[in-house]
This record gives sequence, structure tokens and C-alpha cells, in this order.
Amino acid sequence: MSDPLFDPLAVGGGVTLPNRLVMSPMTRGFSPDGVPPETAADYYGRRAEGGIGLIVTEGVAVEHPAAIGNSGSGGEDIPEMFGEAALAAWHGIVERVHGAGSIIFPQLWHQGGLRIDDSGRYKGRSPRPSGIWGPETPSPFFAAEYLALATAETEPASEEEIADVIAAFARSAANAMACGFDGIAIHGAHGYLLDTFFWHVTNRRDDGWGGPTLAERARFGAEVVRAIRREIGDAPIMFRFSQWKLHDYGARLAETPEALAALLEPLADAGVDIFDASTRKFATPAFDGSPLGLAAWAQKITGKPAMAVGGVGLADDLQSSLGQSSAVADNVGQARAMVASGEISLVGVGRGLLTNADWASRVRGGEPLRAYDAADYRTRV
Ligand SMILES: Cc1cc2nc3c(=O)[nH]c(=O)nc-3n(C[C@H](O)[C@H](O)[C@H](O)COP(=O)(O)O)c2cc1C
Repeated sequence: MSDPLFDPLAVGGGVTLPNRLVMSPMTRGFSPDGVPPETAADYYGRRAEGGIGLIVTEGVAVEHPAAIGNSGSGGEDIPEMFGEAALAAWHGIVERVHGAGSIIFPQLWHQGGLRIDDSGRYKGRSPRPSGIWGPETPSPFFAAEYLALATAETEPASEEEIADVIAAFARSAANAMACGFDGIAIHGAHGYLLDTFFWHVTNRRDDGWGGPTLAERARFGAEVVRAIRREIGDAPIMFRFSQWKLHDYGARLAETPEALAALLEPLADAGVDIFDASTRKFATPAFDGSPLGLAAWAQKITGKPAMAVGGVGLADDLQSSLGQSSAVADNVGQARAMVASGEISLVGVGRGLLTNADWASRVRGGEPLRAYDAADYRTRV
């Protein structure tokens, strides 16, 4: 019998994903001077050889001095999508993944106001829509030393700074396509730069880059998408968004499906082809009164394929078990049923793939998955 998880999916720009299983972006911190090491081709190659249809890389710095630094959660040795050496390394990674028959997008990342000013490889001010770091009661996730420096109020981003960052995303997307990537994934989630424009807590602007509605606060993200679209023709663009923020796991951007539509419709109009709804548990209902999860709502609202992620094949979610191992959960069938019903189109797997490089072929062959071992969080081979 055919398995809907292994049906191909055309995602635009002539790109067809060989199946519905996606490697969710996972930062690694293994790229001194911003250049991915040779072992990175093996790391991604093994997941492709293990049958994953689409690999979304670890977050990669866009070509902007304030993209990456101390953001309270590592931030050392993050790879870059600019510079001859880094681009040559990415080209080798792409070739290796293509050789195994998989599709690969880089996740373009700017940490925004979570980064401490002047930290990281390059100096510079971290752009914040309204100069505000986040909520008054920060998540216990952050160390006191980080908070002491990060939470001081700064000047809101100027028009020039906003234009520079948008241009940086577009330039870096063009660099990625020149390396052979099949499309672009944009990090618009978790309280980083794009998300700070979406979030009412960090965006108090009343000019064209903010306002009381999500439709107004969506503009910066939409302009980033539009600028990338101008550079990459019709190649697919995937956009990650989330309710939760690193500052506050319980935060919510949208309280209703209508509010979610106000955010996602401008992004879809700007050129997003695939939505990646980052949640802690992939099947949790997003709003009262409906069993649909966040990805299912994104797909229903926009008509674009959406990816659900969070705890697929695992008992514990990332945020509740940060840095800890997790037992296997027998819930892959539930994800398969969501794809079969047309509620969602793609299933994202994060930690499960750190322990099981062959996650996809195990699922295809009906073989058991190995429990997630937190030691794999650091070694990541
Ligand atoms: C080690 C690690 C690094 C991560 N880095 C990123 C990242 O760079 N960008 C991102 O959007 N999400 C990142 N995430 C979140 C994952 O993409 C994923 O959404 C999350 O782990 C939930 O999926 P899981 O329960 O299958 O692990 C990371 C998660 C882990 C475990």
C-alpha cells in the first residue's frame, strides 16, 4: 500500500520534493570563521541518504554585520551565506545532498534584537523595531549576564537600517542560489528579527513598519520575501513562523484564525510558497473550538502547503526537555493521517534526525526509531 508520507510534492519553480519528510533547521555552531567544515557535507549527506526529502539547513547568517552574535543561546561559529570560502563549502554540501536525491534550502537567519550590540564576528547595532528587547519578565532560559546587557532599551531601527537588512536577505538569497540551493527558507520565528516586527510586545511603531494590527506588523516580513523573490525568480520560498518566542514560550502572535490570516496572507501575497509552522507539539490545536493545529490553519488560510513540526516520533517537546533525551512516541501515524487528509502537506523532524540519520528509511521500512539521545545535541555527526 502506498504511504502518503512518501508521495512527491511540487512546490513551485519546477522543484518537486521526493517525499513529505523535512529535516527541520537545527543550528550547529561548527563553522569557525563562518565557513562550514568538510564534515558538514557528511552530516547533511547522511540525512539525505537516509531518505529525507527536503533538508532545511541550520540557521545561516545573512550578509549583515549584526546578523549573528551573543543572543543568549550560543551563537558561536555560525555559518554564513557570503564570502568565497563559505559559499564554496555550501556548494559542496548542496552537491552531496543532490547526489543522494534530496532537495536542500538554507535557513537565512538574522537574530535581530536578541543579539547583544557589537557581539559576534562583526560589530554593529542590533536592529529592533522599537528598541525593546522583549517582555518585562524574561524566560528563565536566559542567563542573568546576558539579560543584563541585552535588555537595555535602544533606539528603534531607522529607515536606512531596515532597508539594509532587507537588502542583506536578498543578497544572501542570491548567493545561496548561486551555490545551487533549490530554494530559500526564511527564519521568521522564535523572537528573532522578523518575528520582532510581527510581535506587538517588541513592535510599537506606528509608521509603515508597525501598527495595532498583524497586517501592519507583517509588512517587514513581506518586504523581505518580496526582495528575495526579486532575486531568485520562481524558486520556492519557505517561511518559518511561530507563536512562541525564546523570550516567552507561552507568547502568542495570533489569538484567532482571523489574526493569523492577517499575518500570513501578506506573506503569501509577497511570494511565500511553503509555510513552516514551528510548534512544540505538531498536533496541538492552535485555537479554541477547532482540532486544527497551527500548520493546518496556515494551509487552510493561504492555500499553500504547510509543514507541521514538534515532537514527531518523540515523547517530549524541545522546550520542556531542553538539553534532555526523549523516549520515542508512537505518533508518526498521526502525522501521516494529517498528510493523508490534506490538512498539512509536510512533516518536519528535528531532534529525531540527530539520533536517526536514517529516520525516513526507518519509517518507510516500518523499523523502530531510536530514542533521542541528548548527547547527539552536541556531537551532531
Ligand atoms: C539542536 C537544535 C537546534 C535548533 N536550531 C534551530 C534553528 O537554527 N532554526 C530554527 O528555526 N529552529 C531551530 N531549532 C528548532 C527545530 O527546527 C524544531 O522546530 C524543534 O526542534 C522541534 O522539532 P523536534 O521536536 O522534532 O525536535 C533547533 C532545534 C534543536 C534541537
